[in-house]
Amino acid sequence: LELTLPLMALGYLSGTWLGALTVCSLARVGDPRLAGSGNPGFSNVLRLHGRRLALATLLVDATKGMPVLGLAMLLGLPPWAQGLVGLGVLLGHSYPAWYRFRGGKGVASAFGVMLLLTPWVALCCALLWCLLAWRMRTAAVASLASAAVAPLAATWLAPDYVRVVIVFTLLVLVRHVLNIRRLGRGDEPGL
Ligand code: G3P
Repeated sequence: LELTLPLMALGYLSGTWLGALTVCSLARVGDPRLAGSGNPGFSNVLRLHGRRLALATLLVDATKGMPVLGLAMLLGLPPWAQGLVGLGVLLGHSYPAWYRFRGGKGVASAFGVMLLLTPWVALCCALLWCLLAWRMRTAAVASLASAAVAPLAATWLAPDYVRVVIVFTLLVLVRHVLNIRRLGRGDEPGL
């Protein structure tokens, strides 16, 4: 635990780097928190500014936790401890202290964390996300379905990490409460 907690804190710090804000300010296109869904994340940047900036956002958010998480893995931390470091990254992304704890929904960052911890689960979820986003034109549906499928895929593809993945899924679901309400009312914005 004396290694895990500092690494989790470092994970939190790296998580607070919101790709959407850096990319949009470098491209001088305005703050993504003030337009579209108001979410500083891949989907809203895609909605507002198209694929190029969205991919750049995804690149930042999916890779920002990798150095710290990679270190945790190299140091031989057990799966639950690696999971805590990954959770740190997601908490940093969703509740960044520097932005009054208002961050993103953790989908791209969870994908990046899982790409290291449970690569096959991450790839299954990414495939499902792309398929659903393409067919349904709604990011939140793709994210919610992928989050729901992740623990099931993990029982099969990464049994040691099932509990870790369940925690990530719960966090992503909590971050989508407003989307779920909008989907219920039928006024969720498309992509
Ligand atoms: O990845 C986040 C996505 O599920 C929802 O984003 O901007 O449509 O609320 P947004």
